[in-house]
Amino acid sequence: MERTFIAIKPDGVQRKLIGEIIARFEKKGYKLVAMKYIVPKRELAAKHYEEHKGKGFYEGLLDFITSGPIVAMVWQGKGVIATARKMIGQTKPLESECGSIRGDFGIEVGRNIIHGSDSLDSAEREIGIWFSEEEIFDYESSLDNWVYEK
Ligand code: GTP
Ligand code: MG
Repeated sequence: MERTFIAIKPDGVQRKLIGEIIARFEKKGYKLVAMKYIVPKRELAAKHYEEHKGKGFYEGLLDFITSGPIVAMVWQGKGVIATARKMIGQTKPLESECGSIRGDFGIEVGRNIIHGSDSLDSAEREIGIWFSEEEIFDYESSLDNWVYEK
């Protein structure tokens, strides 16, 4: 089953949005298969955001993402990569639809609350950076038959 990497950034944690965000993914029907609460080391953050190296906002982005605890997660389910991006909204919160996480809770691009992988390749790469295989728990849920058609 498809998996994506989702992280609640330091602003999302400080803003007390952990429960709200996890509840949205749970209610959608997706399954939380890995989670950790950490202050990321700069090296880890740099690996995560390596595609942005050299851009004007890159060092500030690393300063921000390493500035406090984040909630790193792996969510699993049909279409989860693209659907999570829709649930998250656009990079700029003011351009995000109301109803999305950034659209409902954010204003500034550098305080956009949450990260989600943008493709299958980046999901696999990011999950590998943040989690080992032993930290990911796939499990049967009695709700699976109520979420998915046979
Ligand atoms: P992520 O899920 O965090 O990867 O966001 P994204 O995929 O919507 O955007 P992108 O990967 O292009 O940028 C990564 C992060 O860098 C964004 O979430 C922003 O926090 C930050 N960022 C991107 N563009 C800008 C910018 O123009 N200015 C500033 N200050 N930050 C930016
Ligand atoms: Mg991105």
